[in-house]
Amino acid sequence: MSSKKSNYNIQNDTKERERLDLQHTFIKHGFNGNFAAPVDQILRSGARVLDVGCGSGIWILELAEEYPNSHFIGIDMAPVVLKDKQPDNVEFITHNVLHGLPFEDNLFDYVFARFLTGAYKKNQWKEIAIPEYTRVAKSTGWVELMECDIMLKCNSKDNSKEFDLLIKALVDLGDASNTYSNAASEVKGFLEEGNRYNNINSLEKRLPVGPMGEKVADMGVEDFQKIWKLCKTFLIPLMQVSEEEYDAICESANQYLKTIGAKWVFLRAWGQKV
Ligand SMILES: C[S@@+](CC[C@H](N)C(=O)[O-])C[C@H]1O[C@@H](n2cnc3c(N)ncnc32)[C@H](O)[C@@H]1O
Repeated sequence: MSSKKSNYNIQNDTKERERLDLQHTFIKHGFNGNFAAPVDQILRSGARVLDVGCGSGIWILELAEEYPNSHFIGIDMAPVVLKDKQPDNVEFITHNVLHGLPFEDNLFDYVFARFLTGAYKKNQWKEIAIPEYTRVAKSTGWVELMECDIMLKCNSKDNSKEFDLLIKALVDLGDASNTYSNAASEVKGFLEEGNRYNNINSLEKRLPVGPMGEKVADMGVEDFQKIWKLCKTFLIPLMQVSEEEYDAICESANQYLKTIGAKWVFLRAWGQKV
């Protein structure tokens, strides 16, 4: 495993960390909570928790405050930069997960991994990610995956041509890098394979992005505006447009989301290691 380069090309800079924090709040409100596995009690008593690809660290920091008896480790190939002092029950490790997780077997009561579709090629989910999560989880420990599908469900049959172009380009980008653009539809199946987990369950939500009169829907629009900017350098060559044309397409897609809107599918899947 040691020669695996990372597949992830997005810079984890201040802007991206702010976007990840916004997206985190969007999902937390949409799902009414930070996780779905039945771990509240073990977190209260004191558990060892791993967040794989922890990004800005916001999920861990919120849980660490809510569950002071538990110990949280976040791992990411980019260093985590905190605005405030690191809590005593939190550790961050900089490491490429494709090299395997740097932990002994059967260590964690709860392993959480969210939005890692860009981190793994399709085969790496089954060959590296899931086997590694399983290895480091304790027997009867929980593993929870959360992913989204990038094909949004439009609120009107009259789709916006520009919005469709951008979504198609994101799907093409996934195809070109052999990553899933519909990971929400896949992750429960990963847990079901190989009889490694009991009590497998999932929760799907179609969160509003657009003019639904809810704060969460506005956050969804803001997240997409940031995603178009984030992916600009990758999507322009794929779409074969100039920078000015790309910006105009994004502006039109933003207007569509603000006035008509769409639904964004997210799925949480969790299981208990045999
Ligand atoms: C889309 S962000 C999601 C962050 C966080 N899980 C969240 O939900 O906010 C993907 C994260 O995975 C990290 N990542 C990508 N490939 C990785 C790898 N091979 N090893 C470790 N971290 C990786 C990136 O640095 C980034 O922080």
